[in-house]
Amino acid sequence: MIDTHSHINMIEEISLDEVINNAIESGVDKIIVPSAYPKDIDDVMTLIDKYDNIYGMLGVHPTEVKDWTDGLIDKIKEYSKHPKIVAIGEIGLDYYWDKSFNDLQKEVFIKQVKLANELNLPISVHDREAHKDTFDILKKYNKGSKIVMHCFSGSIEFARECIKEGWYLALGGVVTFKNAIKMKEVATDIPLGKLLLETDAPYLTPVPYRGKENQPAYTKFVVEEIAKLRGISVDEVDKITTKNANEVFGI
Ligand code: NI
Repeated sequence: MIDTHSHINMIEEISLDEVINNAIESGVDKIIVPSAYPKDIDDVMTLIDKYDNIYGMLGVHPTEVKDWTDGLIDKIKEYSKHPKIVAIGEIGLDYYWDKSFNDLQKEVFIKQVKLANELNLPISVHDREAHKDTFDILKKYNKGSKIVMHCFSGSIEFARECIKEGWYLALGGVVTFKNAIKMKEVATDIPLGKLLLETDAPYLTPVPYRGKENQPAYTKFVVEEIAKLRGISVDEVDKITTKNANEVFGI
């Protein structure tokens, strides 16, 4: 299994060594760590050098774009020469928390999409309550980068539209929530070849640990739920999603 989106630098309750050991014991052999705050960029670089099985993505999360400076473009370009930087992310739009700087979010999103294109890297997209604008920007500005809709939260119709564009959908703990009917539908409907696994740790902890801090080892609960929903074996979901992740991120 590959946890394709995990903020392990934000986990507080256990040490990083424990995070990594638990992951390996549970069958997660690779973890991809995105940056969200500009300061995470340096954390990611440290982690990928320290641990063999950790890969990184660089970018600024939409809720943090007030801290954006164009100098970050040069920094990301320089750092992404590292062979373990496998994507730009997480970037996108988030209209859930605060709608007062949507225009700035769009502007910075577009800049980072262009950066990913220039670097020929895939993009891990954060889209929260901003499906239409996210879709339109990607459709208009993305020239050639593979797209991963991280923590996909749209309807089955929106999922199908994304799949039509050739994009990947990454599903995490939400799919295990009892009331997440929509997400269970998406997990059942989309082609397995377009599916990726993630935890978004330390957030969105799957059942049976919902409410506690999340960690990459809990990817197994996501796989189990998807296998159950689709009526196939855990092994098959594991094998195909691992292959997808290796292909998308060029690992
Ligand atoms: Ni995230």
